[in-house]
Amino acid sequence: MTSRYQEAHRRALADPEEFWGEAADTIDWVRRPTRILERQENGTGRWFADGLLNTCWNALDRHVEAGRGNQAALIYDSPVTGMVRSYSYGDLRDRVARFAGALAALGVAKGDRVVIYMPMVPEAAIAMLACARLGAIHSVVFGGFAAPELATRLDDAQPKVVVSASCGIEIARIVPYKPLLDEAIRLSAAPPQRCIVLQRPMLTADLVPGRDLSWDEAEADVEPHACVPVAATDPLYILYTSGTTGQPKGIVRDNGGHAVALRWSMANIYAVAPGEVMFTASDVGWVVGHSYIVYAPLLAGATTILYEGKPVGTPDAGAYWRVIAQHGVSVMFTAPTAFRAIKREDPEGRLLAPHGTGRLRALFLAGERADPPTVEWAQQLLGLPVIDHWWQTETGWPIAANCLGLGLMPVKPGSPTVAVPGWDVRCLDAEGQEMPTGDVGALAIRLPLPPGALPTLWNAEARFRQAYLAAFPGYYQTGDAGFVDADGYVHVMSRTDDIINVAGHRLSTGQMEEVLAGHPAVAECAVIGIADALKGQVPLGLLVLKAGTASAGEAVAREVVRMVRDRIGPVAAFKTAVVVQRLPKTRSGKILRGTMRAIADGQDYRMPATIDDPAALDEIRSALAALGSSGA
Ligand code: COA
Ligand code: AMP
Repeated sequence: MTSRYQEAHRRALADPEEFWGEAADTIDWVRRPTRILERQENGTGRWFADGLLNTCWNALDRHVEAGRGNQAALIYDSPVTGMVRSYSYGDLRDRVARFAGALAALGVAKGDRVVIYMPMVPEAAIAMLACARLGAIHSVVFGGFAAPELATRLDDAQPKVVVSASCGIEIARIVPYKPLLDEAIRLSAAPPQRCIVLQRPMLTADLVPGRDLSWDEAEADVEPHACVPVAATDPLYILYTSGTTGQPKGIVRDNGGHAVALRWSMANIYAVAPGEVMFTASDVGWVVGHSYIVYAPLLAGATTILYEGKPVGTPDAGAYWRVIAQHGVSVMFTAPTAFRAIKREDPEGRLLAPHGTGRLRALFLAGERADPPTVEWAQQLLGLPVIDHWWQTETGWPIAANCLGLGLMPVKPGSPTVAVPGWDVRCLDAEGQEMPTGDVGALAIRLPLPPGALPTLWNAEARFRQAYLAAFPGYYQTGDAGFVDADGYVHVMSRTDDIINVAGHRLSTGQMEEVLAGHPAVAECAVIGIADALKGQVPLGLLVLKAGTASAGEAVAREVVRMVRDRIGPVAAFKTAVVVQRLPKTRSGKILRGTMRAIADGQDYRMPATIDDPAALDEIRSALAALGSSGA
């Protein structure tokens, strides 16, 4: 291991106040914090509690003041519309200040919530930064979620204003957003007072008089708004993520810890210097998009690419190579699934040659387990470090990584390398005792968590404690299982709950089961995540029908597929449901999801000793074998 990593890791754990106090010097404060870490009774910590700052100032204004006004801050590259547009730091600061003025004119002030439901257009980032400028709390909802999911988030966040767009574009398909927003508002118990809708040229949305304004109307006659100082511990945003039920968890991110941690990560993990270009191919609706499309590159004075397109199909599997060459990208970040998609379309990597790798130094992958064949394929093709790193919506930045900025360590394919400085990763047994080196257990982080990690859940402190702190007192429970090997490398194997990862998107099978159970003909159901060559995992529904409805099996299977799409959204990628006579269970009635998953994935499994009816597993085996014909 390189000494710079080890020394940083040791220092961050031995004296977090000193380590993060130094890191805090890279941020502009309105009032410099003197209380770096306040330890709470339950082991958690509050970072920079007496500090005052503004995140938007740190992302934009400070760079303009420092002479970077003409440097590109954000490049919008949209193969689906044929547009490429560059915004300098000066331009972006002005656009954000104006939109902050528009929000303020609608009554949005510090602490108010604003929900942003937008495709990958620059206005999405502008809206986020405008909220940060006002000290308002944004909550971005991914465009692939359906109206009921948006409604749930409206109810929880209770926004004063929603910012949306007339449509998104999925390769060549126009996805109208406004009908989904209207439906969500109809379903919501806490509808917003006002909506601002970006009218895109390809589709004009109908506006509700008195409630909706177009983006241009909202900006007309408003004054640019200055940055409003907020406490370091004030929330910057809420980002909802899948929990184990239909009620998503509202992950809260504070201003101070977030700014310090992300800025530190740019230099020490990603090694992106001010003025360099970072290309994160994700969506602003996910945490990766929040952190590494919008905030971190801007906090670091770098240039970020906001890409509205796919790895394949817009127009082909060479799309990323074109972006990297055209914009002089130094570091790229995406999910392994995107590289599986490219590899499937262009296994020889022929589409790279016309572009080359240009200034690219490294590719970072996260969001799901990086399978070694994909990592090795990317490594061979690019001839550059391909760095798997592990993180979660909750943590906001990587827990484990090969820290390029501290000096690369040897790669072990399948492992996201070592705990990032600040993260004290431990592997525990069910009683919270540390597992012997190399043995699989629950991956947990010793408290306090470093800056930038979630301090709580929005409106749900008790749920926060229950979900993350209760299982192992003194630790944060990640929900991932894995092990730490003799070299200190972390290996992340699977979730310990019912979360699955579909194309790098985090979904709850429990939530899908709630939808399936709502079908009048369904007596019992289970949803399991099964291995998929492209998406990593996809959900599969198993249905037991009520007596007398068995003849409607295929229709019910089709209907539940439609229900999941309508209630959760296309992003759930729930395409297959199978009707079975019964579900395999233990004698105490617990559905044997793990065993079914093993059968579906063709893995070895042991017949559970506690199984109630072994024949039920035989039926599952034949149903899965026949899937091609009997799935919906
Ligand atoms: N708005 C509306 N619909 C959306 C959407 C959005 N923002 N994003 C996705 N969808 C739809 C898709 O069109 C698709 O619809 P379909 O069932 O009608 O085909 C469905 O949701 C599933 O989307 P996805 O899982 O993304 O599958 P895909 O087949 O469209 O694309 C990949 C597969 C691998 C190309 C794609 O997932 C991808 O580019 N992944 C990159 C990694 C990434 O973004 N990760 C995020 C975390 S880092
Ligand atoms: P999300 O909150 O959407 O970022 O999803 C977080 C989950 O994705 C983690 O808890 C892991 O299960 C999984 N994940 C993310 N990155 C990795 C990785 N590098 N290796 C394995 N699993 C990962």
